[in-house]
Amino acid sequence: MSSPAILSLAGRRLLHAGTSSTGCAALASARLRSSIASSRCLSSSAARLNPGLKSKGINESSEKGAEGLHRADTATVKSVKHDEKSHSDVPVMTGDWVLFHPVYSTSELKSVEVLHRKPRNISDRLANIMVYVLRKGFDIVSRYKHKEIPAGSNMSLMELRKGGYVMDEHEWLNRILFLESVAGVPGMVAATIRHLRSLRLMRRDSGWIHTLLEEAENERMHLMTFMTLKNPSIFYRALILGAQGVFYNMFFLSYLISPPTCHRFVGYLEEEAVLTYTRCIEEIENGRIPEWENKPAPEIAKDYWRLKSDANLLDVIYAVRSDESTHRFVNHSLANLNDKTDVNPFAIREPDMHVKGLKYGFERDESEKYVKESHQLLESASEEQGSVSQSKS
Ligand SMILES: [Fe+2]
Ligand SMILES: [Fe+2]
Repeated sequence: MSSPAILSLAGRRLLHAGTSSTGCAALASARLRSSIASSRCLSSSAARLNPGLKSKGINESSEKGAEGLHRADTATVKSVKHDEKSHSDVPVMTGDWVLFHPVYSTSELKSVEVLHRKPRNISDRLANIMVYVLRKGFDIVSRYKHKEIPAGSNMSLMELRKGGYVMDEHEWLNRILFLESVAGVPGMVAATIRHLRSLRLMRRDSGWIHTLLEEAENERMHLMTFMTLKNPSIFYRALILGAQGVFYNMFFLSYLISPPTCHRFVGYLEEEAVLTYTRCIEEIENGRIPEWENKPAPEIAKDYWRLKSDANLLDVIYAVRSDESTHRFVNHSLANLNDKTDVNPFAIREPDMHVKGLKYGFERDESEKYVKESHQLLESASEEQGSVSQSKS
């Protein structure tokens, strides 16, 4: 095994806010107006002062840019003037990278496979057993059963549902909403712990935090998307509250003890997520969830995954499955690294779904190779840029 030093930080993704003095003055003025308004009455005056900042309902079209900049906004982004008298010499980065938007081609969406990485050591076995226990417990609570339909059966959909061979759309939503509310926890916990460690030890993080935050954000968007289809009962919400309280703390403590085991655990959990969404897609395509067959995609999903305006729910579920496949790949890969010394191989770029959908993750030497390739790509890009600017001058 070559030295971890070779996996030195692959690159930096820097953001310079480029706040202009005019912007600061406007902000100060808005704050002043806000404080005057709030001293007059106790109700929020934010909406009156600035209607553009008002939070939208879950299924409403968002304001342009509210979910991050769109590719189609490139021309607008380029025309944005940043403050010339900036206090930093860091180049101004424009474009959509702060908030992650996964965009998939049709072939990528179809290239995801159900995979299982066989445990190889005690840590893997522990993670695998934990996921198995959780899955079984959750199956019992959500009354999920995967009963094979008898060969040659001519049962109607009603009979199949009554016999417990297929779930109706409410049962699918119960399962999906619970899974997504839990799935958004590990990325945020891991990012929090790494963030605090970086602050406490005053050491760089080597690019892990951003990827982990992206994962948490991505899972939360899954939850927001499916929430447009259901208004959960108080009892269901209480169940999620309790589960979050237990799971957040358990995962926090576990991550303090062994980050690689935790990433392996998430890798196995994501294997289950890919399996669940693959079955859901099969059910819709085989006409067993007719309520979802031609259901339009929620607006929030169209914004987030940059889907076409006529996209339907099936398109959304394909995109969600690809996201889960990314989480599976990233976490199994991170579990193979030394969390204290190795850089995140996905800090700059990630393989596309033809890799992430068909492979459970990178071994450590593959991560090392991938980082080297990323370095080479960056170097050749900067050389190209240099020769273009030389020829211009
Ligand atoms: Fe998810
Ligand atoms: Fe996931």
